[in-house]
Amino acid sequence: MKIVVIGGTGLIGSKTVAILRQRGHEFVAASPQSGVNTITGEGLKEALAGAQVVIDLANSPSFEDRAVLEFFETSEHNILPAEAVAGVGHHVALSIVGIDRTDNGYFRAKVAQEKLIEASGVPYTIVRATQFLEFLRGIADSSAVGNTVRLPPVMFQPIAADDVAPLVAEVALAPPRNDIVEIAGPERAPFNEIIARYLKAVGDSRQVMSDPEARYWGGRVEERSLVPLAEPRLGRIGLDEWLRRSQAAA
Ligand SMILES: NC(=O)c1ccc[n+]([C@@H]2O[C@H](COP(=O)([O-])OP(=O)(O)OC[C@H]3O[C@@H](n4cnc5c(N)ncnc54)[C@H](OP(=O)(O)O)[C@@H]3O)[C@@H](O)[C@H]2O)c1
Repeated sequence: MKIVVIGGTGLIGSKTVAILRQRGHEFVAASPQSGVNTITGEGLKEALAGAQVVIDLANSPSFEDRAVLEFFETSEHNILPAEAVAGVGHHVALSIVGIDRTDNGYFRAKVAQEKLIEASGVPYTIVRATQFLEFLRGIADSSAVGNTVRLPPVMFQPIAADDVAPLVAEVALAPPRNDIVEIAGPERAPFNEIIARYLKAVGDSRQVMSDPEARYWGGRVEERSLVPLAEPRLGRIGLDEWLRRSQAAA
């Protein structure tokens, strides 16, 4: 079975490719670096020839509202018809838990991506993950003014990239569900508490303040906006274990 991993050089893509390699699957790690560009269409037809499964793990180089929307819309407009022509039997995409429960530019772009997949006629599974633990620093930076990080005390359940990749690979190797599957980390706690624990552990002296009015990337969030509402598939790596692994790898 040939599997094409779009964004195969990225954070989740490279880990997913490593799992497929280890399990002896035939795969293509596709990205602009390897001559496959979902925006220009370059190399797409060749990469998809003979593929049964496509795992789309690409991400926009820019997170600016309009740029990210254009990225995911253009990518899907190019990938999905090319998959239909190539006879791909399963399109897997990585999305985000709660994108339809809070409003920000990046989440709007992911909603648009999901809608295009659902309407394409290509059998699919959408994996919605909670925020990656690797993203905690970016969240803290984006919520900081000076030495203070303001975050709403809503529920948060981040997942490690090392848990995301095997779950994505497992979904890709199973039959398409034509539905959404949610995955999350093993630990659920208030957003401000998790970021405060993270900053303390990495020696970042910024102070975290719980602020019910604080926004997440500009969007208002409520108690359960960012966590799965139903029972998700859980990863195994909590914050402490992730910190231990990150520090060991540094
Ligand atoms: N951050 C989170 O907390 C979170 C949570 C849930 C889901 N997600 C989703 O997870 C997915 C993967 O994220 P990530 O952090 O692993 O991404 P990433 O590390 O930023 O990697 C992005 C990948 O996309 C590729 N790419 C960029 N432009 C491309 C193009 N025009 N054509 C083909 N490939 C292109 C890059 O290739 P090059 O290396 O060649 O540039 C790279 O392989 C994203 O869809 C994101 O929305 C993220």
